[in-house]
Amino acid sequence: MRRKLTAVTWVLVCVASLACTAARCDDDDGPGHDTEHAARALIAAGRHTFRFDTFGDEAFWGDTLRLHQAIEGSRFGGVGAGVSPKTALAVGLKVDVDALPGSLIQALRRGQVNLDDPATTLALLKLNSVIGVTGFFNPGGTSLRSVGIQCALCHSAVDNSLAPGIGHRLDGWANRDLNVGAIVGLAPDLSTVATLEMHGKGTFFDPRLADAEQFPVAARAGFDNVRNDPDLVSPKLPALHVYQLALAAPAAPRGSFSAAAAARGQQVFSSSHCDSCHVPPTFTEPGWNLHTPAELGVDDFEANRAPARGYRTAPLKGLWTHQEGGFYHDGRFATLAAVVDHYDVQFGLHLSPQEKKDLVEYLKSL
Ligand code: HEC
Ligand code: HEC
Repeated sequence: MRRKLTAVTWVLVCVASLACTAARCDDDDGPGHDTEHAARALIAAGRHTFRFDTFGDEAFWGDTLRLHQAIEGSRFGGVGAGVSPKTALAVGLKVDVDALPGSLIQALRRGQVNLDDPATTLALLKLNSVIGVTGFFNPGGTSLRSVGIQCALCHSAVDNSLAPGIGHRLDGWANRDLNVGAIVGLAPDLSTVATLEMHGKGTFFDPRLADAEQFPVAARAGFDNVRNDPDLVSPKLPALHVYQLALAAPAAPRGSFSAAAAARGQQVFSSSHCDSCHVPPTFTEPGWNLHTPAELGVDDFEANRAPARGYRTAPLKGLWTHQEGGFYHDGRFATLAAVVDHYDVQFGLHLSPQEKKDLVEYLKSL
């Protein structure tokens, strides 16, 4: 009995000490441990940057374009009628339901919120609930001083859980409803609109843009070598990069494609050598992923506006999330079937109608 107890005690002590060792291992500053902690911190920081950081671009969107004046309207010291929530939603802006107080959610559910009043837009901005747009308010908080934009403006959608355009954030989903032209068009002063997307205040270096023949506007504006002090961009890039890599491509919902056809379509995908460019699992090329317009059988208009004069192999994961607005860089193919028809001709594949259908089902499943 005693021996048995001792044995049991020993086992317990042994397990306890093993657990202890494991715990100590978790607590010490070993290299593996540091990396995991650092990765978690990077994801959190990157998410914050992605959702909320304007990189100082309010100097452009607000101070220069004066977009904030169009948003608030003359009643609040701006210009024109102002932007109602209805208009904002109509040009594709999204509202984060998790940033709204419960009382407002209730009122929205009951239809008691005035969606025609720019004052409501200002209230939503003050709650930091308009995805990808930050309002900077004057002291007193009733009128806007400036406005800036974030990555999330174009690269987030919502699940429409409360109403169309109002729901939980879906980071990394392309906002296909966004009418950037209409948004910029709201601005009272468009005299300075050039190119380069966000106009953040940072460092950017790409000597290829100094080619005045290919890029007259960029070369004139000095976009090949941009320096700002302080640099509000560079310190945030590593975390932002990690966050983007950490975003999982959303799986295609059950029932949105035929599993049997998709399985056959996978065979067609590989026998047609689609996977020579769209290499799984990223479905783009690991490396230099640009192709000439001639290879793809499309015109070179947009390609010639990029330094390497090519089109990049579109990554195909999560394709089902952006079926509106067409495919290829300019949306020229309205449907996946049209893309497949194009490849069938371009690569001389001679696919049967059944094979084409199966291939489309596979694309929808990615
Ligand atoms: C004004 C809208 C807009 C904003 C703001 C914006 N992007 Fe984009 N981004 C685009 C568009 C449009 C594309 C091209 C998508 C395509 O061709 O499939 C793109 C492409 C990308 C790609 C390549 C995606 C791919 O599938 O290869 C990445 C990565 C990216 N953006 C990251 C960012 C980050 C990070 C930010 C913030 C610092 C940002 N974008 C801000 C519109 C925007
Ligand atoms: C030579 C390389 C190459 C091959 C082979 C190739 N693709 Fe592509 N694919 C591309 C490039 C580059 C683009 C982007 C074109 C653009 O943006 O104009 C693209 C775009 C697409 C798109 C549109 C994605 C989007 O988001 O708009 C789909 C779908 C697609 N390919 C499917 C296929 C299928 C199916 C095959 C085989 C039949 C195939 N590709 C073969 C290079 C290739």
